[in-house]
Amino acid sequence: MTHNSPIEYKRIVIYKDVDIEVTIIEWPPGAETPWHDHGDAKGVITVLDGRVRESVRDKKTKGSPRTFFHSRGNTFFETTDTIHKMKNISLVQSAVTVHVYTAHFEMKEYTEEELKQ
Ligand SMILES: [Fe+2]
Repeated sequence: MTHNSPIEYKRIVIYKDVDIEVTIIEWPPGAETPWHDHGDAKGVITVLDGRVRESVRDKKTKGSPRTFFHSRGNTFFETTDTIHKMKNISLVQSAVTVHVYTAHFEMKEYTEEELKQ
């Protein structure tokens, strides 16, 4: 792995039907998503282990991000009005999250360039 390689997270779909998708994500130290949305799906996320940082922006205005830290046992929501990115900012501890989405969805990614104001 080169210095600039992103650290990848591992996504495991554990249940999926036409109404719901349940995914476990394993986050090695430093793993990060790009900015993204979940299309028309709403989501609920619970941290099973470790801690993750979430940055959230309004999907329409793409204004300044708000930042939240979610630790083991915390539950938070993803709405259809926002885009977000998540990162395990720990240098040593992995994190694990479980995600439940309301429907099958197309995840849209956003580049930093698209978010410049
Ligand atoms: Fe997400």
